[in-house]
Amino acid sequence: MDFRTQSASLDALAGVNADALVLLLAGDSLPVGLDAALAGAVKDAIKLGDFELKAGKTLVLQRVAGVKAPRLVLAGVGKPTLKSARAAVLAALAALKGRGAAHAAIAYAGFEALSDSLVEQTVLAAKEAVYVYRHTKPSAPAAAKLNKLTLLAAKDEAKAVKTGLARGEAIGAGIELAREAANLPPNVATPTYLGEQVKAIGKSHGLKVEVLDQKAVEKLGMGSFLAVAKGSTEPLRFIVARYEGAAKTVAPVVLVGKGITFDSGGISLKPGAGMDEMKFDMGGAASVLGTLRAVAELKPKLNLVAIIAACENMPAGNAVKPGDVVTSMSGQTIEILNTDAEGRLILCDALTYAERFKPAVVVDIATLTGACVIALGGVRSGMYASDDELAGALLAAGDAALDPCWRMPLDEEYDDGLKSNFADVANVAGREGGSITAAKFLQRFASKYRWGHLDIAGTAWKGGGAKGSTGRPVGLLTHFVLSQGR
Ligand code: BES
Ligand code: MN
Ligand code: ZN
Repeated sequence: MDFRTQSASLDALAGVNADALVLLLAGDSLPVGLDAALAGAVKDAIKLGDFELKAGKTLVLQRVAGVKAPRLVLAGVGKPTLKSARAAVLAALAALKGRGAAHAAIAYAGFEALSDSLVEQTVLAAKEAVYVYRHTKPSAPAAAKLNKLTLLAAKDEAKAVKTGLARGEAIGAGIELAREAANLPPNVATPTYLGEQVKAIGKSHGLKVEVLDQKAVEKLGMGSFLAVAKGSTEPLRFIVARYEGAAKTVAPVVLVGKGITFDSGGISLKPGAGMDEMKFDMGGAASVLGTLRAVAELKPKLNLVAIIAACENMPAGNAVKPGDVVTSMSGQTIEILNTDAEGRLILCDALTYAERFKPAVVVDIATLTGACVIALGGVRSGMYASDDELAGALLAAGDAALDPCWRMPLDEEYDDGLKSNFADVANVAGREGGSITAAKFLQRFASKYRWGHLDIAGTAWKGGGAKGSTGRPVGLLTHFVLSQGR
């Protein structure tokens, strides 16, 4: 998708050249200053009962007298918020689906001022409207003919447009990369593939990338990660990429992604129904990949380290068993009571590894627990943080990106169930509070720095007819990383 900007005030929209002029109409009365031809068309449509100035309403008009664009799309926004504006853009572009328009120009009427975030969300909505998975289905039809979007804004809004466009394009590309990686079948998106993807980003964006294999991971003493990986014939990868936008002395932000490219449950095998969706169990890794690309593209003055622990969780004669005790890189021994609680087993070693960067903050991202899906559904990601300031920053980043999260508790009482008679810690507690006890497990390995954890089990992908990756939480993470710069 090609994005352009053009300065055009509300009274000059009728002269805009495009296949379709999309008019976002915020508020419940006709915005002042609107071009007479357009204002007349809107009024007429309302009078005829074909359109209302309300959120969710759209109308496509053709060859409106005095309007240069052959199609005029009216889209009601309602109260102008970031969320309602994004919904209106999506509705307007959906109304153009199945039509001949390749180039749309979009204008905002009734908004107080155009913010960079509004432009960012417009770009993201447009990219979302046209994304189609094709890798193993090249015959999939295009979502829309649309391939060019011109953002119309007044001259004094040019700065907001420029900032928003850059952020929207970078985050949008990151989201696309994350969606594509997660949508790929697990026989394609292997740990090796993830390593190659990070190397490719490293090459195109000038990043330092290290991809460690099993031997290197053994040398590091990652007994917990190795235990999960050993039941699979697919080789593991431990991937580290560094973006350096500030002096080496500046403590980095570290992101750690769970990259289970297929989670069968291992010996604690999952039921068969819906098991294919466990290819999405590398959603955390995919979001780290996408965020890395977005940040490298935006070049903020900060340092970022992206870590991905990637392997399969499979049953086999040599697979890890319930009752096995392993020694993690931290030295803590872990009794593995359920091999399906594998995400925390690979993340704990990655969290220990992160210590070497003397990080300003570490955030891990994982499709960690079914319990989080029960708690928060697919709307908000579960968020845990070791301090209130970090929790505030993650919450704010989620809100700003329309990729929201919700803070969950870390009271010490939740730790009780992780006691083991045979090791320092067990890898599972009871069924109750499953997302929280998983976070408590991870917290034991994250005591040396400020730590945040996102349980994205409910938000990383959608099931059912719309089965596919969402690319979340690339938006949240990119906003968060940017907020950590100075
Ligand atoms: N990848 C799953 C979590 C998951 C399950 C995400 C369903 C999305 C939908 C994770 O590895 C897992 O299997 N967790 C177990 C933990 C349990 C054994 C303590 C779970 O949630 O059932
Ligand atoms: Mn599992
Ligand atoms: Zn898993």
